[in-house]
Amino acid sequence: RCQSVNGEKRKQSSRNVFDNASNLLTSLLSGANLGSMPIAEGAVTDLFDRPLFFSLYDWFLEHGSVYKLAFGPKAFVVVSDPIVARHILRENAFSYDKGVLADILEPIMGKGLIPADLETWKQRRRVIAPGFHTSYLEAMVQLFTSCSERTVLKVNKLLEGEGHDGQKSVELDLEAEFSNLALDIIGLGVFNYDFGSVTNESPVIKAVYGTLFEAEHRSTFYIPYWKFPLARWIVPRQRKFQDDLKVINTCLDGLIRNAKESRQETDVEKLQQRDYSNLKDASLLRFLVDMRGVDVDDRQLRDDLMTMLIAGHETTAAVLTWAVFLLAQNPDKMKKAQAEVDSVLGMGKPTFELLKKLEYMRLIVVETLRLYPQPPLLIRRSLKPDVLPGGHKGDKDGYTIPAGTDVFISVYNLHRSPYFWDRPNDFKPERFLVQNKNEEVEGWAGFDPSRSPGALYPNEIISDFAFLPFGGGPRKCVGDQFALMESTVALAMLLQNFDVELKGTPESVELVTGATIHTKNGLWCNLRKRSSLH
Ligand code: HEM
Repeated sequence: RCQSVNGEKRKQSSRNVFDNASNLLTSLLSGANLGSMPIAEGAVTDLFDRPLFFSLYDWFLEHGSVYKLAFGPKAFVVVSDPIVARHILRENAFSYDKGVLADILEPIMGKGLIPADLETWKQRRRVIAPGFHTSYLEAMVQLFTSCSERTVLKVNKLLEGEGHDGQKSVELDLEAEFSNLALDIIGLGVFNYDFGSVTNESPVIKAVYGTLFEAEHRSTFYIPYWKFPLARWIVPRQRKFQDDLKVINTCLDGLIRNAKESRQETDVEKLQQRDYSNLKDASLLRFLVDMRGVDVDDRQLRDDLMTMLIAGHETTAAVLTWAVFLLAQNPDKMKKAQAEVDSVLGMGKPTFELLKKLEYMRLIVVETLRLYPQPPLLIRRSLKPDVLPGGHKGDKDGYTIPAGTDVFISVYNLHRSPYFWDRPNDFKPERFLVQNKNEEVEGWAGFDPSRSPGALYPNEIISDFAFLPFGGGPRKCVGDQFALMESTVALAMLLQNFDVELKGTPESVELVTGATIHTKNGLWCNLRKRSSLH
């Protein structure tokens, strides 16, 4: 079922390469005078046959880690340097906003954390971030396990089912399965709503996918035609989008109403110490509604929930998809992962405590995020003039950028930079265990796991902003630990139960981007019940 929903999505996505090109070509706004900064002149042909971030990578190798990308009079500054990224995201974070990204997402997320204005963001971040406390995450690990069990059960049924009687393997689009799994998890974890999408279809599920397609369409289509007053009535896809939003909003409004009707106002510290093992509703919505002294209006709560629904769904599904893609091409690493799962879990279930022992699985998840960061670019616009730090190749003094400069921090380039990673394009989960400092890079503190003691997963602090899967600074992802644990649990349970092989060649898995990097036609795999003992 969801394959048909996702099939629709794939068709949309296949136009993204074209859309990316047209975005840049049609965004004929103003160019910034960026002085001596190297300039990459984009040729149209560079953009038609592959995703934009591939071209940004080639230009990075050619022009250095800070360059201006010019398409006609429109200019973007492309940053692929950890020191400059650290400056923009952390040291001078409030001199930048989300620029074009906020324009695109505001109609969907309203004043949710991602597009919110600074005032709203400050208020809501202060309230939402404490919601992701340890007891909540512990309860979420149980949720990840029970939702992943549904997927395992579904595959087992397919293997045993009528159509597959006697067959030993089943063919599945794992990208679609991960998308369903991640949707069920985010619904239950954030607002205690069971989409049941692993096994069912419903108008709400369809509306969520419809909204995701639209968010993706808008993020790759620069002319904001949807802003024209009549567009929502005249353009069929915009009419559908409005209808989809209405369905989701009605659902969220109902959940908010229920949560508010059963509100039990409590201090934050007490909320964080609740016995989550006995709670019927462990969701973030419950926490947000029960928090003492915070009377938030329904509209804001709805925007918060919608933002987390969109931000936490496809991103996590993409990590799982690319993890399987990478493991399937590296049978020795797949075996090592399965051996770890067998020795830590046996036939049992992952728990919060056991996650600490699944070290190799955790490294697989972060190595996947290094090679396939979601999203591959972070978008900012300078609110005032700024001087970017020097030290990067080509200009020791740094560059001055005027107010209104659009900046792309290419996480993809940073994560595959030959200056910071050994054999950057290789899949080597073990690399995160090794200390590494490139003495030639002035101002970069190097890679040192001891810088973030107690961190379960490598992060931007350990790598001094060379590894940025969740951004960094004040706008860093609030759901990072949620997402990492979710991916580890889901992947561990898949490998615990099945041997997985790609159906076709790796080259046949074409890659497209919108908000996330995903496949063009799904990740088709053969799954076989594991026979070896574990
Ligand atoms: C922000 C990545 C999962 C909620 C971000 C940002 C990144 C990111 C890179 C920073 C964007 C920027 O600086 O422009 C990811 C990835 C995920 C993931 C790779 C999965 C593997 C989640 C989940 C949730 C979530 C599960 C919620 C449950 C958010 C929110 C923000 C955010 C609310 C905005 C934070 C703010 O501006 O204060 N995410 N995310 N994300 N993410 Fe995630």
